[in-house]
Amino acid sequence: MSGFKLAIDGPAGSGKSTISALIAKKLNWTHIDTGAMYRAVTLKALELKVDLNDESSYRFLETTNIHYDFDRIFIDDRDVTQAIRSEGVTNNVSLVSSFPYVRRKLVDLQKQAANYGNIVMDGRDIGTVVLPDANVKVFLTANVEERAKRRYKENIKKGKDQHISKVIEDIVVRDQKDSTRKESPLRKADDAIIMDTTYLTIDEVVEKIIELTDKKENKH
Ligand code: DC
Repeated sequence: MSGFKLAIDGPAGSGKSTISALIAKKLNWTHIDTGAMYRAVTLKALELKVDLNDESSYRFLETTNIHYDFDRIFIDDRDVTQAIRSEGVTNNVSLVSSFPYVRRKLVDLQKQAANYGNIVMDGRDIGTVVLPDANVKVFLTANVEERAKRRYKENIKKGKDQHISKVIEDIVVRDQKDSTRKESPLRKADDAIIMDTTYLTIDEVVEKIIELTDKKENKH
């Protein structure tokens, strides 16, 4: 039976994945981080050393298995949760996710995942393409400096000391690529609620979104 669908979109560093994971935990819902799926495909393409610029290189997806188990992501039964956060993957994922063939494959999987139970799904095109019928759509934003600061802190925790100006530059480049690509670019759905998280804590954002879903659930 189809359950409640919560779609969360936004640019890099807007806090989507962290916030979605916390909401899913609190409500005991399934969480699908679709960015992680594009990252898993990028990781496999890099490992296979295929030509990343050629759309037909991604035919390996015909025989590739991608699945989630709680907050872990697996490709061909290998846990790649950590590996997909590498710099190589981050630098190439915008290119890989720009190909219509790759998007079609992953969007199909994402739509299937939403067919059972309550779900919170985060990405760039969830409210517009993957779940246009979502019960609640949220578009998270934050100014570039704040998003870079968050990414910088995450990097430091992982032992990666990159100058903040480089982090800002990487975020600006990725935003530009993700919002100008031809196939389902990053865009706010007309019926999405914009939430600027620049001056909010993670817990405040989580609470606000849960309030929105409660309101909507009580209307039905
Ligand atoms: O959320 P993230 O930074 O892990 O996403 C990695 C990349 O994947 C992002 O730069 C664009 C792409 N992406 C996408 O095109 N569509 C989605 N629904 C999610 C991510």
